[in-house]
Amino acid sequence: MGVKKEEIVFWLERVAEVMAANREYLTELDSAIGDADHGINMHRGFDKVKASLPEYASGDIGNILKTTGMKLMSSVGGASGPLYGTCFMRSGMALAGKEELDCADLLVLLKNCTEGIVQRGKPNPGDKTMYDVWLPSVQAYEQAASENGNNVLASLQAAVQAAREGMTATIEMLAKKGRASYLGERSVGHQDPGATSSYLMLQALLDVINT
Ligand SMILES: Nc1ncnc2c1ncn2[C@@H]1O[C@H](COP(=O)(O)OP(=O)(O)O)[C@@H](O)[C@H]1O
Ligand SMILES: [Mg+2]
Repeated sequence: MGVKKEEIVFWLERVAEVMAANREYLTELDSAIGDADHGINMHRGFDKVKASLPEYASGDIGNILKTTGMKLMSSVGGASGPLYGTCFMRSGMALAGKEELDCADLLVLLKNCTEGIVQRGKPNPGDKTMYDVWLPSVQAYEQAASENGNNVLASLQAAVQAAREGMTATIEMLAKKGRASYLGERSVGHQDPGATSSYLMLQALLDVINT
């Protein structure tokens, strides 16, 4: 079972709905250790993606992802715009020409999203950022795929489970990157907003593939 182009489009539309529904929640998380705009940023960015998707949804998957990254880059202020922008642009470039994704292609998507975040933000594991969701998620996906004979759904389930654990693990971390790092010790005890939006994104992908 592969992931069809239509499902990638549904995913992006669903992320827009999920970010709208979680706008207050993400902003509340960011008010504890940042500047209370993460929900607003994510909502604005994916609203823009959703509104312009009809113009570019007929392209191949690589093109859709790359254009999504460009929309995020241009519409989201704050650290998360360039981070998610690079994440989607990089995965789009790696998947140029694809009309459907198999299990290995989905690993390419996840890996390149993660590498885009690293390229842009230079986070290390444990810095209390979105990277603490993407890194364990990619690792769990790769591990699961090698054990289950490249089953997309089962591998993605493992990835989302790891993403959820990664998100929760940020609570106890001391922030070393981004605005939260200005708080030092006081950042401990709060869940990272970007880690949370990343988890929501991955969960939305699983939901789309699972239905
Ligand atoms: N250098 C970085 N590397 C990776 N992720 C980062 C970095 N800096 C910030 N982030 C992520 O961005 C999130 C904050 O996004 P947002 O609130 O939209 O931007 P800003 O911090 O500019 O207000 C953080 O919760 C964190 O996950
Ligand atoms: Mg913020």
